[in-house]
Amino acid sequence: MEIRIALSSLVIVFAGMISHAQTSPTIINVDSAHPGAAISPQMFGIFFEDINFAADGGLYPELVKNRSFEFDKPLTGWHETLAVDAGGIESSKGELSIRTEDPLSATNPHYLRVIVHEPGGYALRNNGFRGIVVESGAEYRFSAYVRGAGPKVVRATLTDESGHEVGSGKLEGFTGKWQRYETVIRATATTQHAQLNLFVDETGYVDLDMVSLFPLDTWKHRPNGLRKDLVQLLYDLHPGFLRFPGGCIVEGRQLLTRYRWKTTVGDIAQRTTIINRWNDEFDHRPTPDYFQSFGLGFYEYFQLAEDIGARPLPILNCGMACQFNSNETANLDQLDEYIKDALDLIEFANGPVTSAWGKLRAQMGHPAPFHLEMIGIGNEQWGERYIERYKVFAAALKAKHPEIKLVVAAGPSPAGNTFDTMWAHWRELKPDIVDEHYYMTPEWFVSNTARYDHYDRSGPKVFAGEFAAQTSGVAKPDNRNNWRAAISEAAFMTGLERNGDVVRMASYAPLMAHVDAWQWTPDAIWFDNLRSYGTPDYYVQRLFASNVGTNILPVTPQAKDGLFTSASFDERSDELIVKVINDTADARTTEIRLGATGRYGTVKVTTLQSADLSAENSFEHPTALSLQESTLEVNGGTISAQLRPYSASVYRVPTK
Ligand code: AHR
Repeated sequence: MEIRIALSSLVIVFAGMISHAQTSPTIINVDSAHPGAAISPQMFGIFFEDINFAADGGLYPELVKNRSFEFDKPLTGWHETLAVDAGGIESSKGELSIRTEDPLSATNPHYLRVIVHEPGGYALRNNGFRGIVVESGAEYRFSAYVRGAGPKVVRATLTDESGHEVGSGKLEGFTGKWQRYETVIRATATTQHAQLNLFVDETGYVDLDMVSLFPLDTWKHRPNGLRKDLVQLLYDLHPGFLRFPGGCIVEGRQLLTRYRWKTTVGDIAQRTTIINRWNDEFDHRPTPDYFQSFGLGFYEYFQLAEDIGARPLPILNCGMACQFNSNETANLDQLDEYIKDALDLIEFANGPVTSAWGKLRAQMGHPAPFHLEMIGIGNEQWGERYIERYKVFAAALKAKHPEIKLVVAAGPSPAGNTFDTMWAHWRELKPDIVDEHYYMTPEWFVSNTARYDHYDRSGPKVFAGEFAAQTSGVAKPDNRNNWRAAISEAAFMTGLERNGDVVRMASYAPLMAHVDAWQWTPDAIWFDNLRSYGTPDYYVQRLFASNVGTNILPVTPQAKDGLFTSASFDERSDELIVKVINDTADARTTEIRLGATGRYGTVKVTTLQSADLSAENSFEHPTALSLQESTLEVNGGTISAQLRPYSASVYRVPTK
């Protein structure tokens, strides 16, 4: 008897070992006759934070670094170009000084005075954000606010790495009063490492502020518009929502440097530049020249959300600075300003043009409302002090705007005492949505696909607000955006979708990184000054966000032998949508049974696949791992699908 048991156990173990090299197909049953709960229309979206040069130096394509001389070292980015005489001796014919008297604006108080002592000229230069990118034939608006006494002209040239001129222009006709001047410079060559040179030839002085070189060819050709290739990647993702402006950037190191949305709207020359909290966060990636100009501010975020078809989700400071840094907290009796910011933001986004903030929105070019429906109270906060502050916010906001959903945080980890305590509070206080973060290993993602299967259906909903598989460790500099990480996220996301009645939103984080100026990796999109590409993680997000149905469909098995599934029905297009992740090294034969032998159209199959788990995309091979499309037919209510090793596939089946 004992021997027989041992033998049968052996057979089971052996069967487990060979199960992937199967001969009979794995049956996946989709119960299309019983559509379940509604999936949120904004299920998969975008988390944007100004980290890794994602805003200045990235999505916001200003080419001059420190255009307003407001960095803590106000000449950061600017260099004097000394004259060299016949004997090779360098000398200066003038001087630079930073001044504050009679500034362009009290909120942009510093400016540069260029004093020229000798006729014949004085020059300075700016090297941009790790170089200035210009493209042959493209046009750039060169502009500045200038006030002068003596010199009537500021000449500008663009030179490449070898010093060859690749464009020029001039501003002229200055008076003794601040005035904005502009001209268009056409580049004659392409380079990522140009510099902008400014020359003042006559004696006297000119005061300069908001010195700008801005591409004309922005997204939707907007002045002060966004970088086209990066917005296109966001647009192609079909995001359900856009969370902004972060992330820890919301909190600031101290309350003084928290994100204040009101200082980021209106005339860009009036917006107050402050330090970026990622500036020196990591010893392994110091970025002392990282500041926030807020050229990309809250108006531009709302506009971006609208452009890419995403619902806006602004996150506001709740009176707490980053709990990993200063942990500074505003007293409860000091919260009025924070709450007013939240109430005024709702007016800015949705209020009539006759209201104070609605009027500003209209003046900025958008009289129609931005349809704000939700606000985050705090970023990744936790603890009793957070709960106390949330209560004050919730009372004020719900009294005036019961229509606005409130998003709160469950702290930085996906489990543990802090997480459990926060959830105990939230179950009692019943905010609308709780934001959970998981920066975990690929193995964690694969083994947690059932995380939400047993969540309380009557409690607050969940926002998987920041997640990314870390191949080495949280925010470690050697984390990779490889297929191992991405396919583990895909497996996990089937669990999010299957539980779409609880999980209402999800976003990968962080979104973007400049290859020469990042602080945190992994990231969904990498770029340099000229090029950009989506990582495998980006394509997983795109695969899911582009294929969200309206209602969950029951599917079995959900997780078995390295296969992970989810299914939905899309009542807008009358399609069944089935997702199958094969997280094994073996090709798998499956039969996807659709539950009824109705009439089905040709199945559109979209697949992301690589047998190599270390596969990555790169500037040279930006789409090495990207979405591939094919078709299949349904026979007798069944799709016979061959799943390639390590693949994520979506089957869209027309039902009428
Ligand atoms: O995504 C990077 C950081 O991770 C976010 O700013 C913060 O919310 C989290 O700790």
